[in-house]
Amino acid sequence: MYTELFDQIQDLKKVRNAIILAHSYQRDEVQDIADFVGDSLGLSREAAKTDAQVIVFAGVHFMAETAAILNPEKTVLIPDPDAGCSLADTIAADDVRAWKDSNPDGLVVAYVNTTAEVKALADVCVTSANAVSVVSALDPNRPIFFVPDMFLGAHVERETGRKMNLWLGECHVHAGIGEKEINLRLSEHSKAEFLIHPECSCGSACLYLKPDAKIMSTEGMVRYSQSVEAEEFVVATEVGILHRLQKFSPEKRFFPVKDSAVCEYMKMITLEKIRDSLLMDQFKVEIDPDISEKARNALESMIAVG
Ligand code: 13P
Ligand code: SF4
Repeated sequence: MYTELFDQIQDLKKVRNAIILAHSYQRDEVQDIADFVGDSLGLSREAAKTDAQVIVFAGVHFMAETAAILNPEKTVLIPDPDAGCSLADTIAADDVRAWKDSNPDGLVVAYVNTTAEVKALADVCVTSANAVSVVSALDPNRPIFFVPDMFLGAHVERETGRKMNLWLGECHVHAGIGEKEINLRLSEHSKAEFLIHPECSCGSACLYLKPDAKIMSTEGMVRYSQSVEAEEFVVATEVGILHRLQKFSPEKRFFPVKDSAVCEYMKMITLEKIRDSLLMDQFKVEIDPDISEKARNALESMIAVG
């Protein structure tokens, strides 16, 4: 169905010495054309080590920005510059500055779902895959401002036992996955394992509903479902991940908690836009060098922890 577009993109990739990185919430066909598909942590690592001269980022803007920060000498293209993130939009650099002004000894921990300006003010970045280990490694005597996702922040607090100042931001897709939907799906699949992304709003209620629920990043879900014997999984996150879960465990069955948990920003990237981005060198992600350097320090501190 997409053969012609696939061929065009493969040819253009060779001519441009380009690589396509895609997040697991991308459309199925975009995941299929990508050289690497992963979660935010995997994508950051891949962006940091690629030899390609051009990175086409099939994901949302903060992810493409992260790739550009880590690769100042390369061309990073986002096929649709309007692919934003409702969570990243909840906090501005001035909000972080205000906290730092009143907490001069404090540490700012920024989830990667933030703009480059916010990352530039952070001491360290985290993704959903490494937030617990990164926060555990921080000086226990300094106050922490965790931005912008309050549900991920609450998860980190539960896991580390460390109280933090949480910015009250949320992602509209994950905040919309609640107890009611979860209860219904779990009752339909009583033998299934339950996988939850930490951005989901149910928080401790999820664990109350099913104490052996696994809270993990999108890539954590892919690895975990491959490694266990269970045959059915109820999955609480954006539905794009189902393609990847099914691809790596074709004999298993995956059920989304909510079919309408769709990130419209992620779905703005299409094969046509990827082709046009390679063809017309659009849309370049450009960041002020000073902001980029500061944000890179926060990202590299994260990558150093793991
Ligand atoms: P992951 O880091 O788990 O891929 O999540 C990114 C994201 O945007 C979740 O909504
Ligand atoms: Fe942002 Fe939510 Fe979309 Fe992830 S799913 S990119 S947090 S809006």
